[in-house]
Formats: sequence, structure tokens, C-alpha cells
Amino acid sequence: APEQVLAGKKVAITAGPTREALDPVRYLSNHSSGKMGFAIAAAAARAGAEVTLIAGPVRLATPAGVNRVDVISTEEMLAAAERAADDCDLFIAAAAVVDFRPEVVSSQKIKKSEGDDHDVLQLVKNPDIVATIAARSDKRPFVVGFAAETENVVEHAEGKLARKNLDMIVANDVSDPEGGFNSDRNEVILIDRSGRQPLPPALKTELASQLVTLIADRAFAKK
Ligand code: C5P
Repeated sequence: APEQVLAGKKVAITAGPTREALDPVRYLSNHSSGKMGFAIAAAAARAGAEVTLIAGPVRLATPAGVNRVDVISTEEMLAAAERAADDCDLFIAAAAVVDFRPEVVSSQKIKKSEGDDHDVLQLVKNPDIVATIAARSDKRPFVVGFAAETENVVEHAEGKLARKNLDMIVANDVSDPEGGFNSDRNEVILIDRSGRQPLPPALKTELASQLVTLIADRAFAKK
């Protein structure tokens, strides 16, 4: 059996996309599969943690021993995250949150207006879930984010680490055909204020176990 590096710890993980309704039949979303977040939830449970997995709309089975909370919109994900973070030691944000939502959700199906080929959606910025949790002064868990980048991966990830006040960030080059959104494999660099640790390309399931071990060590190791 793997070492129980998270025994007695409570872990909350966001995973998958969020989805923002435009009207009763349409939405804004992205191609996140949720695989990385679900793999981390499974690995954390195997490592002995009590895991709450806050999942956007994905087609994945709930990992063994994991408490799953299903959400759709970003605001629902934030509410579930705030609730889970009130009582957790480690918060891992693996969700691909939709950055903007329609200012108004139409109660009826939006019609194509006659003669206007440039109808524009009015969008408003969504709350940043991981930054909201990391900004807490009270009940602040150890906070880990993800950064999916297509260029200057380390620089952008370090910028997010600082700007969002995270404790660690997992940087991911999504232009790499070996990794990214729908792939079963990934290649990441784990970054905190003391340095960078590249992990070799691996299955997301294997990578998840390595990440859990490394994160647990930084978050909870008695120095
Ligand atoms: O800024 P960017 O979206 O690249 O940041 C990615 C990290 O921030 C991920 O950990 C993601 O889950 C988190 N995030 C969030 N809420 C948002 C946007 C991103 O928790 N609204």
C-alpha cells in the first residue's frame, strides 16, 4: 500500500469545467475533461485524506472513497469551495473555470434578430475561486493552483502564484500534444516560492500520485 501521506487531512479539490447558461438551451464552457482533478482526488483518497471533490459537468466516475459535490456554474463552484474550505487543510484548484459569464441569463431562447449579424454578448467577469480561498486570513488551507499555458509557461505560472497568493502552482504546457485538456498524459512543473521541480511526462493517474506526495511534503512535513 502507498504511504498514507495525507492520513487525517481534509482535502478539497475543484475539477472539470464550469458552464455558464446564456438561455435555456445554450451555454459557455470549455473542453476540460476533469481527468487531472479526478486523478488527484483518487490519489489523495489513497493517501489517506478525507476528500471533497467539487466537480463541474464531466463524464467521469467518482473515485473510490471520495465525497463528490456536483456543480454547474462558476458561482455554484465558488459556493461549494467556500463551504469545503471552511473545514479543510489543503485546497487544490484543478478546475478550468469559465472566466466570464453573460450579464443576464435570458429566460427564453435568444432569437436571431433580423438583419443584425453582429449581436454581441455582454459578459461580466466571474469570481476567481482559488484566489478567493487563498485571500482568506481565517480558515485558510494550504492552496495549490494549476496554470495551463501555451507559452512562457514558468513565467506565467509564477505570476499567478504571486498574484493569487497561492502556496504552490502546477504549471502545464497545453500546446504540448503529449499533455493538456483531453489527454490521459501530462507533463508539469511544480512551482513554489523556493523553486521549480519538473516532473517527467506520465499518465495523469501516475502524475497525480507524485503531485500528492510532493504537495503533502511541502504542506505538512514537520521540519
Ligand atoms: O488565471 P487562470 O485561470 O489561468 O488560473 C488558473 C488557476 O486558477 C487554476 O488553479 C484554476 O482552477 C483557478 N481559477 C479559479 N477561478 C477562476 C479562474 C481560475 O479557481 N475564476
